Amino acid sequence: MESSTLETTAAMGPAALYASGCEKLAASAALTCFEPNCRAQYPLTEVIYQCPRCGGLLEVAYDWSSAHPELWKRIWRARRMDNQPMNQSGVWRYREMMPFLDSAVDVVTLREGNTPVLESARAAEYAGLDRIAFKHQGFNPTGSFKDNGMTAGVTQARRLGKRRVACVSTGNTSASMAAYASAAGLTPVIFLPHGNISFGKLAQALEYGALTLQVEANFDEILALVREIAERSDVYLLNSINPFRIEGQKTMAIELLDQLDWRVPDWVVVPGGNLGNTAAFGKGFAEMHKAGLIKKVPKIGVVQAEGSAPFFEFMKAPRQDAFHAVRTPETLATAIRIGDPVSWPKAWHVMREAGGIVESASEQEIANAKAVIGKAGIGCEPASAATLAGIKRLVSRNIIGRNENVVAILTGNVLKDPDYIYRYHTGELKTPSGAQIRPDFGNRPMVVPNDAGEILKVLDRM
Ligand code: F0G
Repeated sequence: MESSTLETTAAMGPAALYASGCEKLAASAALTCFEPNCRAQYPLTEVIYQCPRCGGLLEVAYDWSSAHPELWKRIWRARRMDNQPMNQSGVWRYREMMPFLDSAVDVVTLREGNTPVLESARAAEYAGLDRIAFKHQGFNPTGSFKDNGMTAGVTQARRLGKRRVACVSTGNTSASMAAYASAAGLTPVIFLPHGNISFGKLAQALEYGALTLQVEANFDEILALVREIAERSDVYLLNSINPFRIEGQKTMAIELLDQLDWRVPDWVVVPGGNLGNTAAFGKGFAEMHKAGLIKKVPKIGVVQAEGSAPFFEFMKAPRQDAFHAVRTPETLATAIRIGDPVSWPKAWHVMREAGGIVESASEQEIANAKAVIGKAGIGCEPASAATLAGIKRLVSRNIIGRNENVVAILTGNVLKDPDYIYRYHTGELKTPSGAQIRPDFGNRPMVVPNDAGEILKVLDRM
């Protein structure tokens, strides 16, 4: 630092220091190629989804040297008591960590985030742990973690002056995009794999007013189609390949640590589909570390469904030289029925940096874990339950220690897929290949006569 700058800095009060730190940080923000050999930078307002020079994924990168960690922590706490929309949002409350806008006028918020951290002794016992906590993203406005990223993505769309936004989705991204785009006065265009998303999610897209196109193809095939459409039109692409969505999504990690009073857990475990969420958590923790908010990062666990587990297979191989997509991914956890995840290079980076592990879980294990989370009074959709199923496996393999602090991220609300729930509890749930799933924690409804005496006999048997 030049001596004149030092003198000026010394003469500054805390408010001015804070402002100048934020300004420097914002000035450093750039769209940056994720590939370590390229790292080409582009203006934040350039509409690109991959690096024009090398084809790599993009991220928003910052220089964290002017961060004010202790002051920020106090500011974020104070904002929880404030009624301004941006301070009530569990995403924009942490805006110092995502300074990619030059003004707040385009911010679209439905008061996303603010999701609870819930402990469950029952679920801990099931997994073989002393304790477990769930951060439940299903408490979001549209019932999934996608809202954290979508508020940022739709805000960027508005800032760019876009009128139409599009995504392909296994259901939650589309529900979220439909809500945020409609709230912002933009037109949502949604592409869905026909017949392979839960009815609850499809219903949300319709209710939130999206143009809903059901395509006879799987998620991976439709993503290629939508990328082509975005290139040939002015439609703004809001899949998790969009780096601004990841900016919003990484605040899940920040909010989690704020809720834990900045005590870093040993493990944070997420379900893995397109792997955007793994990338977002990894980026969030790494940036908090660089900004001085935390002294270490947690290990990240990723769990994939057995029939849709290309990242699990990739990491299991002795050497990671080639990523092989799963051509026909299958799982009843339709949210993570993805065979060719676009964000795998980012997720791989997270695994290497944070000492992560990838596990898989069978349909039976996911179904049982889901019922255990339900019986704990918490509940979640099938993909979310892959976390507990995977944790149970990792504990039995001694990779996660019994007394370690584990946080599982529940990504979607229990009501996203009621059909699955009913079938499980009534013994009608079958795997995609037709095998019966045992309702080990089943809870069948009973038909009783309209007769108090008979009903009392039933109660006495309990
Ligand atoms: N859990 C749920 C409930 C999801 O909806 C998704 C992804 C994931 C986990 C996996 O997250 O893709 O970032 O690894 N759903 C996307 C969608 C693909 O279209 O809604 P990921």
